[in-house]
Amino acid sequence: VDLRDALRTTGAVRDFEPRPVDDAVLYEILDDARFAPSGGNRQAWRVIVVGDSAQRRALRDLYLEGWHEYVAHRLEGLVPFSTGATPDERRRADVRVAEALALTGPDDFPARLDQAPALLAVTADLAQLAATDRDLGRYGVVGGASIYPFVWSILLAARDRGLGGVMTTVATRREGAAADLLGLPEGHALCALVALGYPRRRPTRLTRRPVEEFTTRDRLDGASFAP
Ligand SMILES: Cc1cc2nc3c(=O)[nH]c(=O)nc-3n(C[C@H](O)[C@H](O)[C@H](O)COP(=O)(O)O)c2cc1C
Repeated sequence: VDLRDALRTTGAVRDFEPRPVDDAVLYEILDDARFAPSGGNRQAWRVIVVGDSAQRRALRDLYLEGWHEYVAHRLEGLVPFSTGATPDERRRADVRVAEALALTGPDDFPARLDQAPALLAVTADLAQLAATDRDLGRYGVVGGASIYPFVWSILLAARDRGLGGVMTTVATRREGAAADLLGLPEGHALCALVALGYPRRRPTRLTRRPVEEFTTRDRLDGASFAP
């Protein structure tokens, strides 16, 4: 695929053909993705290829728990898991989890995560992350930037081979249980579960904001940027 095309049209794919993904293809994808950048080139990511069906089901169950929380937040009109949510908003969202549970059908992606042709758990050794914002007393965002470009490269490399997929993070809500399942030591984080496979259909048009809406000159409140 042409790079510009890939950048503009690589949307989330959650519905896959039953065709399996060969280990050789998966290896090639990771072999391309490993050239992703990371702070200090520490490459703190680890990838666990989850093939065992009991492991997959257990991860799906953790994913579902996070997913229902996500939906409950949406039902409450919140930005799910936003650091801006007040304790009261969080409590109100928690009450709606049962409602959210009823909204996930057995054929929906969260319930079928274990059926994804390929399932990767991407984890990170936190001690290796260059989290330059760690001392600011606010929610940290820079550390993840040494991991998620790698995950995005997995999705782009998959796209180049006719596959599609999605990076997911709601299972991180249950990181403790996931750590036990995956054998993660203390100080090691679950960053994403990535589902990959041959798409049943590909998104053609992605909904994204135009440049003018998120780019300004000189200051955040500066003039909108356009040539
Ligand atoms: C950091 C991150 C976390 C995400 N977590 C989830 C997730 O837990 N579950 C999911 O189904 N999709 C997840 N996504 C996929 C987004 O929903 C998707 O990229 C976005 O809605 C754009 O969708 P589109 O490509 O179909 O336009 C995540 C994406 C990113 C970048």
